Amino acid sequence: MRDGEQTPGVALTKDKKLLIAQALDEIGVSIIEAGSAITSEGERESIKAVANAGLDAEICSYCRIVKSDIDRALECDVDSIHLVAPVSDLHIRTKIKKDRDSVRQIAAEVTEYAKDHGLIVELSGEDASRADPEFLKAIYADGIAAGADRLCFCDTVGLLVPERAKEIFRDLSSSLKAPISIHCHNDFGFATANTVAALAAGAKQAHVTINGLGERAGNASLEEVVMSLEWLYKYDTGIKHEMIYRTSRLVSRLTGIPVSPNKPLVGGNAFTHEAGIHVHGLLADKATYEPMSPEYIGRQRQIVLGKHAGRSSVTLALKEMGLAADDTQIEEIFNRVKQIGDQGKHITDADLQTIAENVLDIY
Ligand code: KIV
Ligand code: ZN
Repeated sequence: MRDGEQTPGVALTKDKKLLIAQALDEIGVSIIEAGSAITSEGERESIKAVANAGLDAEICSYCRIVKSDIDRALECDVDSIHLVAPVSDLHIRTKIKKDRDSVRQIAAEVTEYAKDHGLIVELSGEDASRADPEFLKAIYADGIAAGADRLCFCDTVGLLVPERAKEIFRDLSSSLKAPISIHCHNDFGFATANTVAALAAGAKQAHVTINGLGERAGNASLEEVVMSLEWLYKYDTGIKHEMIYRTSRLVSRLTGIPVSPNKPLVGGNAFTHEAGIHVHGLLADKATYEPMSPEYIGRQRQIVLGKHAGRSSVTLALKEMGLAADDTQIEEIFNRVKQIGDQGKHITDADLQTIAENVLDIY
């Protein structure tokens, strides 16, 4: 709810944040970044409400390496902070106008300050994929010495590729004595692949957002990362996968950001079939044209009729409407569906009902 809310055009009220936090908690998310306490009075009220909502999840606030950010986070009763230090020379020079040594020193000091105030600290390297790896390890090591509980590697502008993510995480997880998270952006469409690669190579946590929301092309999406792990790698994430679709719909409704129809798993078309030959295959065995059962994430398959529809799709759609037709009637309905499809139109359930009633001479 911090990086996801950075989606252009999204600003969540307290009530909406609470609803989303409750849904994330219910689905089994273990840490919720509820916002950035320094942002505004309203943001602090929202974070505080989430922190005091009696959820099982650890509630976290984003903080810069500035002590006043920690003070604002403490006012919100959070359990933990996502403490973010710029680590690439580009970010150090242009964003905070300091040098590497001062960033190292400030990050350690602020970590210690947060620990002295009883917070769990996840020390994050912003733009880590463009940082000098030796400097990155040094800042993480200082952070651990100052009491950081976890670390995080941010691929801030989505420049990682899976092979590189693996190399980096093998190295970091063998040389650092704290669990390390992966935080990926999707600028080149690699966010899920990079996240999964990092997890395979030693990352202990993944930062994700529902529907892949986030700045620019967004973040790694919860549904893609969870289902890749569960379905493709046979790994039990502990997430209640059957609630994924309803959570995606809730977040889309509350943020006002529609999900693209071809978005994996949660897009409108992800389990929708039109082409006749596909539906024919589906009737024989669902696995023919479905990578997994839609019910696993709380969805149902849909059959739509259009110019690609085959006799099987028409027969199936009629059956689902409770209408019995013989071969000649199916042929007639099928021809009418094709005529409408050839005009570039889709056939809604109501259209099919009307055609069928007409051909079957009902009423
Ligand atoms: O992508 C990123 O680098 C971030 C940090 C600010 C944590 O979201
Ligand atoms: Zn981010």
